[in-house]
Amino acid sequence: MQALLHKLPPSVTALLLQVAAAALTLLGGRALEFQFTPLSFALACGLLAASFSHLAGLARWWLFIQLCFAPALVLMLAFDIPPGIFLTAFLIMLAVYWSTFRTQVPLYLSSNKVWNALENLLPSHSGGGVGGEGFRFIDLGSGLGGVLTHLARIRSDGHYTGVESAPLPLLWSWLRCKPYRNCKVHWGSIWDEKLAACNLAQYDVVFAYLSPVPMERLWHKARAEMRPGSVFISSTFTVPEQTPCQTLEIDDLHHSTLLVWRM
Ligand SMILES: C[S@@+](CC[C@H](N)C(=O)[O-])C[C@H]1O[C@@H](n2cnc3c(N)ncnc32)[C@H](O)[C@@H]1O
Repeated sequence: MQALLHKLPPSVTALLLQVAAAALTLLGGRALEFQFTPLSFALACGLLAASFSHLAGLARWWLFIQLCFAPALVLMLAFDIPPGIFLTAFLIMLAVYWSTFRTQVPLYLSSNKVWNALENLLPSHSGGGVGGEGFRFIDLGSGLGGVLTHLARIRSDGHYTGVESAPLPLLWSWLRCKPYRNCKVHWGSIWDEKLAACNLAQYDVVFAYLSPVPMERLWHKARAEMRPGSVFISSTFTVPEQTPCQTLEIDDLHHSTLLVWRM
């Protein structure tokens, strides 16, 4: 059963476990002839769903969500909030997080200290890139464009590309990049082979701050496409069984680490 659940995205597993918890609470209540209030029903569902999630091996933060989901639903309904507010909140979250339920890479941002450390990992002189036209840098999953615009300002001899799948961060970063002639963001998935920007052969530096989930796949892509001598940098998330050439500990709030591989 656990093996079957592991094949599903965690969000689908969580939903199935919520349904199972609600069904079991309902059946248990009937069998014991116990009259639940809406809140006690929700609390029982939450406790069961969190226990099932623990047994199913979901990450710890999911247990908290599973525990609070049904009680929060009941409390929210009690406040009689207009449904339009929920719809608006849902649409904003959708535009920000988009396919996170599938990619398992949410939006969180690199710190200014990471931006500064990246400056030292760029090719050191002008003309260092393909054809002597300045180096090329890509941020895979470029979020709000902070990495790109910082580097475009500090090192104007480079060309900066971002690929971002979520619409609202994409719009934000597009506006942010507009003043820079050497900075461009594309809407799409980093795995889309039809998106020319995603071919890593054209870059001198490839940067990614994603999550543990796509790292193995990304490593295979990098190995297949990147040119010898180019640099692959992952912030915080390592590649299973691949020792980086260089590791930089960053003294920021997230205790970020920059892992550097020279291809
Ligand atoms: C952790 S954030 C990093 C943002 C930015 N690179 C930074 O360092 O501040 C990861 C971003 O990758 C985006 N993302 C996740 N999977 C993606 C995919 N397959 N294709 C394109 N973007 C993706 C997410 O929407 C999110 O904005």
